[in-house]
Amino acid sequence: MTMPRAIGLDDVVAAETSLSDVDGEAGRLILRGHDVEELAGRVPYEAAVALFWDGFVPVGGGVAALRRDMGAGRVAAFGRFAPLERAAAGLSPVEGLRLFLSAIADEDALAVPAALVGAVGVAAAMAVRLSEGRAPLAPDPALSHAADVLRMLSGRTPAPAHVAALDTYLVTILDHGLNASTFTARVVASTAAGLPSAVVAALMALKGPLHGGAPGPVLDMLDAIATAERADAWLAAALARGDRLMGFGHRVYRVRDPRADVLKAAIGRLTDRPGRIAFAEAVEEAALRQLAAHRSGRPLDINVEFYTALLLEALGVPRAGFTPLFAIGRVAGWVAHVREQEAAGRIIRPQSRYVGPMPARAA
Ligand code: ACO
Repeated sequence: MTMPRAIGLDDVVAAETSLSDVDGEAGRLILRGHDVEELAGRVPYEAAVALFWDGFVPVGGGVAALRRDMGAGRVAAFGRFAPLERAAAGLSPVEGLRLFLSAIADEDALAVPAALVGAVGVAAAMAVRLSEGRAPLAPDPALSHAADVLRMLSGRTPAPAHVAALDTYLVTILDHGLNASTFTARVVASTAAGLPSAVVAALMALKGPLHGGAPGPVLDMLDAIATAERADAWLAAALARGDRLMGFGHRVYRVRDPRADVLKAAIGRLTDRPGRIAFAEAVEEAALRQLAAHRSGRPLDINVEFYTALLLEALGVPRAGFTPLFAIGRVAGWVAHVREQEAAGRIIRPQSRYVGPMPARAA
């Protein structure tokens, strides 16, 4: 059945933004006037956030101050979330992250942009460790956000190459137009509900496998395929069953998602498991072949999530932690969109078309 386009708001312009632009025909992502390739892999997360927030969120002392404020936010958040550890231990990482962030009151010291970004890093790492039955680790505010997140996850001082790879990932996924989670953040912000509420709501939109929940299932798919020789047959059978291939397809892109190649290059620089990357490339090529054969109308290409899965796997992140890791980077985007929406000052309130039965006319 072909869905009415209104169901998915295809092509509807619901906001004017100076933050980012997704050109789906050209395969181009612009963040505050910079192509994603100019930033990702070239500047640390804090520098990209400072640039991205400029004009929307006050960043008084520049990158150094932002790094310090995020570190202070991590420390404050660790103390704030500690009483919730027992409740989070029975939850999946993304549910644990939701629990921790829900504890931030509107007037909380954590409810300001830099501290909130720090808090998401801590909450994500805590939630991942608790879900594995391991005790959370306190943050080290002297480290960069990426380095501290990796350390809080593994308990070890991360290799510089791993820190660089996580920085590349966090910058790559910082913002992406009016994706479902960002739109959710803006809807909640438009009601004047406040920053923590908008971020928790956005996280829940991110959770779904059609959005930020896709990379875990990408690895499940690679496990099921198992060897490069099996890829074409496995993928053809999946498409014949009507399954969606995780890590492929996008509402806006009609060509390759530029973020896929940024992340592929970052994985190449890690070079821990060349065999794994070669296998992933073989699956990618087979998927593109099978999708081209399967669909005649709409072109389907790779999206950001395919190589996200490989990169986070290489960094030792368990697959249930992939969506929380996505939130660590994307929260800075949500924050800026919340501020932009609040400045716009009008509630987002579309209409629906009623297609149900009408009341019987009174005699
Ligand atoms: N595998 C197989 N077929 C697909 C895929 C896919 N990954 N994506 C879309 N299609 C097909 C649909 O089945 C549909 O076919 P039909 O017309 O015969 O019904 C056609 O392509 C058009 O698809 P839509 O439903 O219009 O695509 P939509 O824009 O609604 O969905 C989405 C975009 C959700 C990303 C989709 O491509 C998908 O489910 N991909 C897999 C999950 C995924 O990788 N999500 C991460 C996206 S990136 C991000 O959010 C960070």
